[in-house]
Amino acid sequence: MKKGQILENITIEKLVFWGKWFAKHESGKTIFITGGAVPGSIVDLKVIKKRTGYVMTQIVNTIKKSPIEKKHPNNPWGETGWCKWVNIPYEHQLKIKDDQIKESFFHLEKYQKNIAFEPIVPSPLVDGYRNKAEFSFWKHISAKNGVEEHFNVWFHKQGMFSQIEDFDGCILTDKLVNDVYLDIKTFAKQSWLPVYDQKWHTGFFRHIIFRRAFFTDEMMVILSFNPHFNDRNIDLDMTKEYFVWLAERYSEIKSIYLSHNDNKADTAIGKLELIYGNDVIHEKVLGLTFQISPKSFFQTNSHGAEVLYSKVIEFAHKDNIKNWTVLDLYAGTGTIGMIFAKHAKQVTSVELVPDATENGKKNAKLNNIENVEFVNSKVEDFLWGYLEAWKQADLLIIDPPRAGMHPKALPNIMKFKSKQIIYVSCNPATLSRDLEEIIKDWEYSIEKVCPVDMFPHTHHIEVVVSLVKN
Ligand SMILES: C[S@@+](CC[C@H](N)C(=O)[O-])C[C@H]1O[C@@H](n2cnc3c(N)ncnc32)[C@H](O)[C@@H]1O
Repeated sequence: MKKGQILENITIEKLVFWGKWFAKHESGKTIFITGGAVPGSIVDLKVIKKRTGYVMTQIVNTIKKSPIEKKHPNNPWGETGWCKWVNIPYEHQLKIKDDQIKESFFHLEKYQKNIAFEPIVPSPLVDGYRNKAEFSFWKHISAKNGVEEHFNVWFHKQGMFSQIEDFDGCILTDKLVNDVYLDIKTFAKQSWLPVYDQKWHTGFFRHIIFRRAFFTDEMMVILSFNPHFNDRNIDLDMTKEYFVWLAERYSEIKSIYLSHNDNKADTAIGKLELIYGNDVIHEKVLGLTFQISPKSFFQTNSHGAEVLYSKVIEFAHKDNIKNWTVLDLYAGTGTIGMIFAKHAKQVTSVELVPDATENGKKNAKLNNIENVEFVNSKVEDFLWGYLEAWKQADLLIIDPPRAGMHPKALPNIMKFKSKQIIYVSCNPATLSRDLEEIIKDWEYSIEKVCPVDMFPHTHHIEVVVSLVKN
């Protein structure tokens, strides 16, 4: 097999890792497929990378649709770059994710047989659940004559960074976000201001970001634009007037920012200017109030976050933890730590990003929580110092980013000899790698595992694992 070769009539078998699909070639060679795919479909694939033992491919043609595939009954927008699984019925999506999690635990059976899996917990909202959405303005170059046709907004075409697809909404965002998005898009088109050109750093419009609080029905809108655009004062006045009008039209909009964005990279947040309303919006999760600022990290599915955090609390040995010290590692804004505050004696939330730590402190104050300490540090450095000071923790909650735990952090985790560890993961591959390190010396066993679906219509999945000291 070589790069560019077309592999014909291949049946897609299953989801494996990092959102890649698996198939077997008649020669016995392993095939991984990137992008949207449906298990059971028969496709032609193009080899994009050749590696020892496997090839990486992309679908170029679908010969036969999978028997499980079914058009979403209520999705006027079609399949955008975000919701590649939208035409897989939700019960099948859950089954694919559940199977993937079980498979990623297979290699742990040499340490522990009969791991207890709880059934996957579905997302309370299957459509319109995203509370954060970021859209890019891109020039659309007509395929026919290479002439710029004003512009479109929305997603990059699958696997093709230079091409975008134009959509008027997405199934993952709710009606309010879709309505306001369409309104802004219409304004942007009618303004005749040009779209930012990533290559030449010219043009005006760059991104629109929405932050949506479902439990308080509030919304924040951020428009990112190129501050070096000519005549920008005239254009800014017109843009500001439009956005204030927008806030009058949609009462849920409580905060509007302009982001003066001269970043060369395609990032949305530059110098922020509040042009309407409050500097933050508020979201409520499990009875606690959280401030959300333009840069705050917050789980992207608010309803799903309630389910996820409830599972973490359910897994903790609650009868015992009244006198326990809890470490909330990779804490973000300390959401999990604050939810644990009423159950435990003392919580320490450790997070790398200074803004997130500051947000955490503010949120704790807002909720009158006094037994959570916020530490701004890398987890690997923090653990080292904590152990040096002979401090102990009874319960460790670990919620790392997709890359999993830092190799320097893992050995120190073991030195704590904590009674319980709860590992929350958004990546089954790094989860099973880290779990192997934790259980291989027989000091801990996996008590139970529960997948929680926070991201319907995508391959992403969260897993909560409880480990107990043997
Ligand atoms: C999956 S998020 C967890 C957020 C939080 N537990 C929540 O539920 O909102 C992972 C967090 O780890 C932080 N992080 C990444 N690497 C880190 C490190 N080496 N030390 C400390 N925090 C880190 C990221 O900034 C991010 O906030």
